[in-house]
Amino acid sequence: MPPRDIIIDTDPGQDDAAAILLALGSPDEINVLGITAVAGNVPLVLTQKNARIVCELAGKTNVPVFAGCDAPLVRKLVTAEHVHGKTGLDGPALPDPDMPLQDQHGVDFIIETLRARPAETVTLCPLGPLTNIATALQRAPDIAERIQEIVLMGGAYFEVGNITPAAEFNIYVDPEAADIVFKSGVNTTIMPLDVTHKVLVTLKRIDALRAQATPVCDAMADMVDFFERFDTDKYGSDGAPLHDPCVTAYLIKPELFSGRFINVEIETLSELTLGMTVADWWGVTDRAPNAMFMGDVDAQGFFDLLTERLARL
Ligand code: BDR
Ligand code: CA
Repeated sequence: MPPRDIIIDTDPGQDDAAAILLALGSPDEINVLGITAVAGNVPLVLTQKNARIVCELAGKTNVPVFAGCDAPLVRKLVTAEHVHGKTGLDGPALPDPDMPLQDQHGVDFIIETLRARPAETVTLCPLGPLTNIATALQRAPDIAERIQEIVLMGGAYFEVGNITPAAEFNIYVDPEAADIVFKSGVNTTIMPLDVTHKVLVTLKRIDALRAQATPVCDAMADMVDFFERFDTDKYGSDGAPLHDPCVTAYLIKPELFSGRFINVEIETLSELTLGMTVADWWGVTDRAPNAMFMGDVDAQGFFDLLTERLARL
């Protein structure tokens, strides 16, 4: 099978970096057409820069990086420096990027790419708030039927929330955008906290990365060491969850994940539960299923894959 063409939409973020590196280290399975940055973990001026830092770390300066939307559709941006540090990529000392930012807006790149390529051959991989994807769908509704699949990190059911008691960060930051995406009719696969909270970076797994003794694996281990401190304190677990690379791991080895095809809707009105992903896991409504909602993962299989592919870079 030829590699799958994807666009990564992202707000790096150390775990976004892991997702990007996993994709760039897997050229037999994944062809990254471009990376579009969005405001999320940190403001856009940093996420677009961080995306280029990650490409340079991987030695893949030919991957075009675009800046997309700098704020959610209708709300004020909420960021997460308390998790990811001031730069968004705190941890390793990485140089400022030399590779240029593309002139084209990220949303235009998404629209043009989907229109230029054969229908259902491009997969979108959102790893942050869904602002860019929703804006593209709003501006160019014709692209909905051209998207092969959206595979995204966001939401939660059993794990409920991480930025509020009811909501996961990516969905909470731009719930109106999430609502547009979930109602778009596009074939969608979701990696919620229910999965990502099982993917814990234990000390043994960090050691396995360091044992590769490559600049990429060392940098990844330093990034994980950084946000580990926050998450292990918060959850009292053995290691921090590594959210976003579940998306790119799924494209390489879908058999690592299992879930249910169910109805998922977004709360956009309630102040208390804003951004909640209301997932009909138990099938208690007659609302039509609209997404493959993952619930379980082979965590060790995931880490073996991540370590092996990052070591190739
Ligand atoms: C998501 O929020 C961000 O902080 C991470 O990068 C991930 O995409 C997890 O809730
Ligand atoms: Ca992210």
